Amino acid sequence: DSGYITLDSGYKNTGATKSAITFLDGEQGILHYRGYPIEQLAEKSNFIEVAYLLIYGALPTAQELEDFSGKIKMHTLVNEDMRKILDGFPSTAHPMGILSALISSLTAFYPESLNPNQTKEEVDLSIIRLMAKMPTIAAWSYKNSVGHPVNYPKNKLDYCSNFLHMMFAFPTEDYEINPVVVDALNKLLILHADHEQNCSTSTVRLVGSANASLYSSVSAGISALWGPLHGGANQAVIEMLEAIKADGGDSKKYIAKAKDKDDPFRLMGFGHRVYKNFDPRARIIKKAADEVLSALGINDPILTIAMELEEAALNDPYFVERKLYPNVDFYSGIIYRALGIPTDMFTVMFALGRLPGWIAQWKEMREQKEPIGRPRQIYTGETERNYVDIEKR
Ligand code: SDX
Repeated sequence: DSGYITLDSGYKNTGATKSAITFLDGEQGILHYRGYPIEQLAEKSNFIEVAYLLIYGALPTAQELEDFSGKIKMHTLVNEDMRKILDGFPSTAHPMGILSALISSLTAFYPESLNPNQTKEEVDLSIIRLMAKMPTIAAWSYKNSVGHPVNYPKNKLDYCSNFLHMMFAFPTEDYEINPVVVDALNKLLILHADHEQNCSTSTVRLVGSANASLYSSVSAGISALWGPLHGGANQAVIEMLEAIKADGGDSKKYIAKAKDKDDPFRLMGFGHRVYKNFDPRARIIKKAADEVLSALGINDPILTIAMELEEAALNDPYFVERKLYPNVDFYSGIIYRALGIPTDMFTVMFALGRLPGWIAQWKEMREQKEPIGRPRQIYTGETERNYVDIEKR
């Protein structure tokens, strides 16, 4: 213990670990999953294949992908005891709160997941179980919030179609799965799948370093992601755009507010700790937003407001000096809205996408046998002093 502590609040200049999963270059706007450029994966791959790539380190053969997808399908059902927990939530409960509670309850149902010496097969089972049950729990948290009966998974459907069916099917009418929606959802989930040591992933690794179960570690990550400065930003962006629209659509007024030091308002969906020129995911999502809205014949006025905001900010010295550009959250909410996903489910969608990344990072931390995370501090409190009896205070 050298006694020599360097303070680095927000860990802006701290490398917390070594990792072989995701590569970011903030200056060049580069994002690779296991070496593959995100642009190629978004164009050519699908979410389950990208999940396999992140978790196991290589693109699967056709047989490997079929086995992985088949194992996931076997575990999509959520047991009735968890349904009872769900039934305990009022319809006003935010889906992110339900998600973190139910994912955390998996440790209660499968306590063997706390064993740090689990065999490879046991770890694999908890990975498959979590990948399989998250979409069901996510869809059920939505059904709870609208007071509709839950739908059970249909295993003849692919992952994204199955999720959409569980979200939107209703007993008295058929639900037509639209391939445009499935395609857009696959792309969005791929773009959210991992992002090296961001706040929620660092949370998963820190909690996991205490030998907490994968489920508890991911539940902690869900809570971190819920923060409006992190994954909660996609919901905050839409609420901001709605507010601007309701306020007459004057984006210049909100640019001024964002620049005003005395005004706590921030332009949600702008800025990034690492990307300092552009967020490569935002570029792909913005293009996809255009395509999805025109394919679905939707003319969403807040897309126009979003583009005006982006245009104004990119030409404003305040934002240019601070290298503030649209991030992954700026346009994603517009697509989710076009897909019929309600605003309070946007961060759940982020968690659904980020799950394979959290799993891959937790697995890597365990395989690297990393010590329990326990940073130090610079003490700024009182020097030693003696207790004072209450009558003398
Ligand atoms: C995600 O880390 C990841 O990879 C996260 C993520 C992932 O995939 O996991 O990419 C997902 O979380 C994207 C970010 C979503 N959050 C938002 O959109 C919320 C709005 N953005 C900001 O709060 C902020 O930009 C952060 C949180 C994203 C980054 O914060 P930093 O790096 O700590 O930067 P900062 O808060 O120190 O700001 C630097 C300067 C400040 O001005 P000065 O005090 O220097 O004068 O830029 C200003 C800030 O006031 N600033 C903004 C701003 N973001 C930063 N001003 C107005 N609007 C903004 N959005």
